[in-house]
Amino acid sequence: MAKEIKSVGIVGAGFTGKQIAAQTAQNNFVVKVYDSNPKSVEDAKKYITGVLKRKNLMDAIQDVSYYSDLDKALKDVDLVIEAVPENLALKKKIFSQIDNLAPAHTIIGTNSSSYPVSKIESAVKRKDKVLNLHFYPPIPTRPMVDIMRGSETSEETFEIGKKWIEDIKCEPLVVNKECLGFVFNRIWHTVKKECLKIWDGGYADIKTVDTAWKIFTGMKMGPFTMMDGIGLDVAYAVEMSYYGESGDLNDKPPDAFKELVENGDLGLKTGKGFYTYRRRKK
Ligand SMILES: NC(=O)c1ccc[n+]([C@@H]2O[C@H](COP(=O)([O-])OP(=O)(O)OC[C@H]3O[C@@H](n4cnc5c(N)ncnc54)[C@H](O)[C@@H]3O)[C@@H](O)[C@H]2O)c1
Repeated sequence: MAKEIKSVGIVGAGFTGKQIAAQTAQNNFVVKVYDSNPKSVEDAKKYITGVLKRKNLMDAIQDVSYYSDLDKALKDVDLVIEAVPENLALKKKIFSQIDNLAPAHTIIGTNSSSYPVSKIESAVKRKDKVLNLHFYPPIPTRPMVDIMRGSETSEETFEIGKKWIEDIKCEPLVVNKECLGFVFNRIWHTVKKECLKIWDGGYADIKTVDTAWKIFTGMKMGPFTMMDGIGLDVAYAVEMSYYGESGDLNDKPPDAFKELVENGDLGLKTGKGFYTYRRRKK
């Protein structure tokens, strides 16, 4: 078992994977970035190099390498973070590939937003070396990471994972007991659920809710603006996953929310969601 993480592999270099790679690289780790899509590898390289250049970390740029071959990417890594799309079968397949290719001591973490690693761990032999390591992008402004065990994760794995989170200058949010939504996403789910009920029930309009949230928290955006930014298709799917897990009607997102999604009103990316945006994007 590696007592110290020196080299980190990122599998899936999309929106979150490339941010995890940049945060890791700027804190003195060797980073190996892999994606099955060459365009994602190219975009990730541009993004990571840009971040490191802006911080004048020219040596760190040399410590990041990019791969389209998983075998080569995982040769000497101590930790691998999987950040491929949110699909359980895909995540299991990737975990199994990592298990077969990475050194025996390597810890495997998933950045999944909704799957506890206990649902993925059956794909690997090293069940004592798996973790949920869930980020909250944009990482520079939200430097916190949920850390949660699988059913056989060793304490040594957990402690090494927690120390790595601290080493990349993030706050570890320790989840003591398996929990859908980890620490903050669960709180955030409750906020969104109640905001949606206020809107659906006609108790107050979205602007009033967002204004109240902004004044109370000091944040720049309210929940409806944030859901529009994330994309209502994504936000709706997340709410449905909570409902699917609990089966509690109280967790069911309102039909009016579903209608927005079915109408193609997906928020900022389509020009209309809860709010209407002046410049319509295709
Ligand atoms: N988007 C968010 O705000 C956010 C926040 C926290 C966690 N997450 C989680 O992170 C994960 C990735 O989400 P994202 O938003 O970065 O997705 P994304 O679509 O931006 O990136 C996924 C990347 O995985 C690559 N990929 C697909 N299949 C692959 C394979 N077989 N092997 C290697 N790479 C493959 C894709 O080419 C793509 O570059 C999901 O599990 C999601 O739940 C996302």
